[in-house]
Amino acid sequence: RLTGVVNVLREEDLLLNTFLFLGFITKVWYDLTYSARALTSLPAAMFSRNTISVWSILKKCIGLELSKITMPIVFNEPLSFLQRITEYMEHTYLINRACSLSNSIERMQAVAAFAVSAVASQWDRTGKPFNPLLGETYELTREDQGFRLVSEQVSHHPPVSAFHAESLVGDFVFHGSIYPKLKFWGKSVEAEPKGTITLELLKHNEGYTWSNPFCCVHNIILGKLWIEQYGTVEIVNHSTGDKCVLNFKPCGMFGKELHKVEGYIQDKSKKKHCVIYGKWTECMWSVDPQAYEAHKKSERKGDNKKHKNVRTSNGHPEGAENDDADDMPDVQETVSVVPGSTLLWRIESRPAHSAVMYNFTNFTMSLNELEPGMEAILPHTDCRFRPDIRAMENGNMDEATKEKERLEDKQRAARKERAKDEDEWSTRWFQMGTNPYTNSQGWLYTGGYFNRNYQDLPDIY
Ligand SMILES: *[C@@H]1O[C@H](CO)[C@@H](O)[C@H](O)[C@H]1NC(C)=O
Ligand SMILES: *[C@@H]1O[C@H](CO)[C@@H](O)[C@H](O)[C@H]1NC(C)=O
Ligand SMILES: *[C@@H]1O[C@H](CO)[C@@H](O)[C@H](O)[C@H]1NC(C)=O
Repeated sequence: RLTGVVNVLREEDLLLNTFLFLGFITKVWYDLTYSARALTSLPAAMFSRNTISVWSILKKCIGLELSKITMPIVFNEPLSFLQRITEYMEHTYLINRACSLSNSIERMQAVAAFAVSAVASQWDRTGKPFNPLLGETYELTREDQGFRLVSEQVSHHPPVSAFHAESLVGDFVFHGSIYPKLKFWGKSVEAEPKGTITLELLKHNEGYTWSNPFCCVHNIILGKLWIEQYGTVEIVNHSTGDKCVLNFKPCGMFGKELHKVEGYIQDKSKKKHCVIYGKWTECMWSVDPQAYEAHKKSERKGDNKKHKNVRTSNGHPEGAENDDADDMPDVQETVSVVPGSTLLWRIESRPAHSAVMYNFTNFTMSLNELEPGMEAILPHTDCRFRPDIRAMENGNMDEATKEKERLEDKQRAARKERAKDEDEWSTRWFQMGTNPYTNSQGWLYTGGYFNRNYQDLPDIY
């Protein structure tokens, strides 16, 4: 029954818009108004989504041309994908720590912790960020964390977002471009964050590169939405060939591996220097490989005894063959710490109002804030000026839907116009170039954004 829908959904344009595309809207208005925003809250709470009844909506839609169905904005979160990328910077202190360490293995540990922490904000974030419009930009300067970042949507088909962050005191540069590739699997949507991320520690003359793990949103049709990240992330030190291999584990049949990350740092002779383990939703530790193996062995012995009365699995292998929801395994045991381990990173708890504010972290709450004075200096392509995101943030869903459609129409019309005049779109702050570490093509920052000379910017809103 689902296959018809699945097939129509392969259309590229739609896939972008169907991250979480159908739903039943229960308009429950949380009467929480935060008059003073104080950087750690949003102006309005979110509408609640009730995904249980999606099936009944979906049934009615079968056979309809899906491009005619607009995705209810209730499944979005009031952020542009450019702002979502900026969340990588939440734990910038880990890069600063890496810069300050003289031992190269310890530096790699801090970089590995940063790479894991960079995806931790995805935890419980099932809202789909807004697709950036071509030419949209975002900037963020955080004096307290010591960095500034600029990003630009450099391509619309396929969507590519390029970003460049730098230390305010010249210690590091962190850049990359993300090409989110979405695949619809019937019951889940899988996002492959294609694109390489590069971190340069300037004082140490080191460059590290990696790619993010896969991210999967389960139960988009039925059941409770939940997020899984999996895949191997290899952080390579290009000066030496040393690397850190991190394995984001799929949750597995019994959910025992849910959220787990495990890996090691090895030098170019493949000698393992340390094991890194933990959960991307909680904390990461580092320990001597021998101590880790010994601990594992004794744990397995204990496990064999326990497994006599194992409960039946409620997790199914992924696929669209059956109509049941794939519930998130409810194994909530935390990381068991191997004696002698060093803590590399621990997640901060989210503020209490996060639950009614898209599960944003403290850092995320402030990303769309238009602080006093910003309006005068930001380029008018900045996401903070996007009327649809702003309306949604303020809890005005009808306005947000209207504005989103208007912006998309405007973007389509501009593209047609360019095609007619055989005009090529030119990016403003990034250009294709060769990444010196990987020798592959990527979008590199051309500089000058912070000179604040913003003439001839496109009118995209
Ligand atoms: C990375 O390469 C640099 C430069 O050769 C070297 O000094 C450093 O030890 C390496 N770092 C790691 C973590 O392997
Ligand atoms: C926020 O997290 C809660 C708790 O896990 C979850 O039930 C809810 O669906 C999440 N909300 C969003 C918008 O992702
Ligand atoms: C969020 O940030 C505010 C202000 O910076 C701070 O007072 C508060 O403790 C933080 N909340 C959490 C849960 O970390």
